[in-house]
Amino acid sequence: MMAIFIRGGRVIDPSQNLDEELEVLIEGDRIAALGRDLSPPPGAKIISAHGKIVAPGFIDMHVHLREPGYEHKETIATGTRAAAAGGFTSVVCMANTLPVADNVGVIAYIKEKARKEGMVRVYPVGAVSKGQEGEEMAEIGDLASAGVVALSDDGRPVMNSLVMRYALEYARMFNLPIISHCEDENLANGGVMHEGYMSTVLGLRGIPAAAEEVMVARDLILAEMTGGKIHLAHLSTAGSVRLLKEARSRGIRVSAEVTPHHLCLTDKMVETYDTNTKVNPPLRPDEHRQALVEALVQGIIEVIATDHAPHAQEEKEQEYDYAPFGISGLETAVPLVITCLVLPGQLSWSQMIRAWSTNPARILGIPGGTLAEGSVADVTIIDPDREKEVDSQKFYSKGRNTPLTGWKLKGWPAVTIVGGKVVMEEGQVLE
Ligand code: DOR
Repeated sequence: MMAIFIRGGRVIDPSQNLDEELEVLIEGDRIAALGRDLSPPPGAKIISAHGKIVAPGFIDMHVHLREPGYEHKETIATGTRAAAAGGFTSVVCMANTLPVADNVGVIAYIKEKARKEGMVRVYPVGAVSKGQEGEEMAEIGDLASAGVVALSDDGRPVMNSLVMRYALEYARMFNLPIISHCEDENLANGGVMHEGYMSTVLGLRGIPAAAEEVMVARDLILAEMTGGKIHLAHLSTAGSVRLLKEARSRGIRVSAEVTPHHLCLTDKMVETYDTNTKVNPPLRPDEHRQALVEALVQGIIEVIATDHAPHAQEEKEQEYDYAPFGISGLETAVPLVITCLVLPGQLSWSQMIRAWSTNPARILGIPGGTLAEGSVADVTIIDPDREKEVDSQKFYSKGRNTPLTGWKLKGWPAVTIVGGKVVMEEGQVLE
């Protein structure tokens, strides 16, 4: 493999508290050197990163790749190309496939497909319960030996608290986190957007913030009781943040994530009835959004994850009530957060990079999250000045379901390097 020399960039690596102009030398699949006066070895590919941010590769720990079973929405091939285009070097894929990833066979299938057709690293999640039915635990020991990095019924909550208790206890033996989709299905009551002023005005059935918060509270109580490791997916309310803050101050083993859409968009956007704004948990009013941003800045929420949920166009082209929940997020996530939070000065570059690289690597115990010498050569280079309009027709993802079409965003990923191989340059995925 050709050596790569990244010249003149602003290297921000929160794992080493680094923020300075440095050269990066990659040899083989490793970071060989990081320094000020390095020169490229003969024959190295030179990447000029002047004016750009060089970061450890971004890890998206919440992605739906849809394969096996829903290949009309996304495949491992298209989803990992979308990831590479979006600046991600690793994705963690959820278990709500068909069949559900609740057994060794499906996990082996995903890994094999990813090895053959994937553009970035793929880490599968195994289901908590058989068929994600929430009643009987999956074979957690088998899933652990098949190499899952976490367990989750994401897409659906584990409503039965006894199942959640046992799952936390078993997962603990294998040191696997449980990623919890916090939603009380009874309280959610078939709602399609946030319950509040906008839902009343629009005449759509609402999902109260409490539907999330009661489950966050339950999961925190069970995590404390069992000593298991819990990761709260896609938090969306101020109340969830309050509960999380209290739990963390008492030393409960808990981490949490927030999506770019919950950080940057509100339920005001639903007024067009655009089904691309329909997502679970739903977009919330601005006071919730602000609480999420603050929690991220304070490190109470440690991770940004997209919850990339691609759907086919004909599925989204229905009445709001009938369209499936989900936003295709991989290809707009990074510039959305940069445009809406980093450039206006609400979130620092290093806070963003920590939440999108260093922290997910640590929480899941996977390679990456650092540019330290000897670590895997996964690198994301961002051009903070590059401005571009979102055009979902140009997505690599099969899912064109984004509410951001036509938005001008700034701060696009310029280069993605996975294991010492350039997989994306200037928005183009390289085969
Ligand atoms: O909006 C969502 N879509 N939220 C989820 O929890 C599941 C996901 C999906 O699988 O489409």
